Amino acid sequence: MNHFLEIEQLSKQEIEHLIQVGLSFKNRTDYPNYNHYAVANLFYENSTRTRVSFELAAKHLNMPVINFNHENSSEHKGEEIFDTISTLSAMGISVFVMRHQQEKLIHRIAAEIGEKAHLVNAGDGAYAHPTQSILDMMTIVEKKSNLADLKVAIVGDLLHSRVASSFREICQKLGVGELRMVAPVAWQPKQTAYGTITPSLKEGLEGVDVVIGLRVQRERLSKGDEMDLTEYRRSYALTQESMQYAKSDAILMHPGPINRGIEIDSEVADGPQSVILTQVQNGVFARMAVLQSILE
Ligand code: CP
Repeated sequence: MNHFLEIEQLSKQEIEHLIQVGLSFKNRTDYPNYNHYAVANLFYENSTRTRVSFELAAKHLNMPVINFNHENSSEHKGEEIFDTISTLSAMGISVFVMRHQQEKLIHRIAAEIGEKAHLVNAGDGAYAHPTQSILDMMTIVEKKSNLADLKVAIVGDLLHSRVASSFREICQKLGVGELRMVAPVAWQPKQTAYGTITPSLKEGLEGVDVVIGLRVQRERLSKGDEMDLTEYRRSYALTQESMQYAKSDAILMHPGPINRGIEIDSEVADGPQSVILTQVQNGVFARMAVLQSILE
């Protein structure tokens, strides 16, 4: 695999391998050495978890890392992103971890750049966030047995969520028993290739093993998509009360950043069922696995 762009490009075996490599990195400290490959983090959208975990992942693998700041780069003099990447590649950067608001821009750059560099998708618009779904599934595999028997609910703004779309793909590839997608009608996708869609939080959470909350992405809402957040909270917030619908040993996940008091209550986010910080921790190891997979 030269570029890591979306879950769709991976086979079931490749995904399982990434998860197993991520888990093995978590349980050891002797990491392989890739010091002859340098990484550039190109983040055109804000990030805490993804950017820092890619930086840490690269450093664990002994790779030099550049955090490219486009705000003070020559892109402000008119340079195009493809020329920026070609320029950095000529300097010896091998891997470009890119987050951009434009969907599939990374696919077009990857097609143009070919084998001269490796591109890793760290989130493109509302389209995909494939490394998030690897770390999400790594967390589920760590906490729960047999995926084919699991019931998973994902709750929130499915329409604008790249986390949800990559998660749906990984569930389909790995054959997760049941995927229930819960959202108000205005935030539901028109159709889904896997799982079921419901506007009822009760119906969606009833008896599930895993509950995943999604951030209300106020920055992606356009005219017609706006939501009364008090109303949203009343019907869809993950609270101690709504978590009662799920199994008593259900785990609670959220990709972060969380909006406390909107889509999730602090008692739940910080409570005993929450594995949110385990997701964050696993992000480093999952991204080490992804970096290794494109270099091997
Ligand atoms: N989950 C996630 O992508 O978080 P960041 O935006 O902080 O990277």
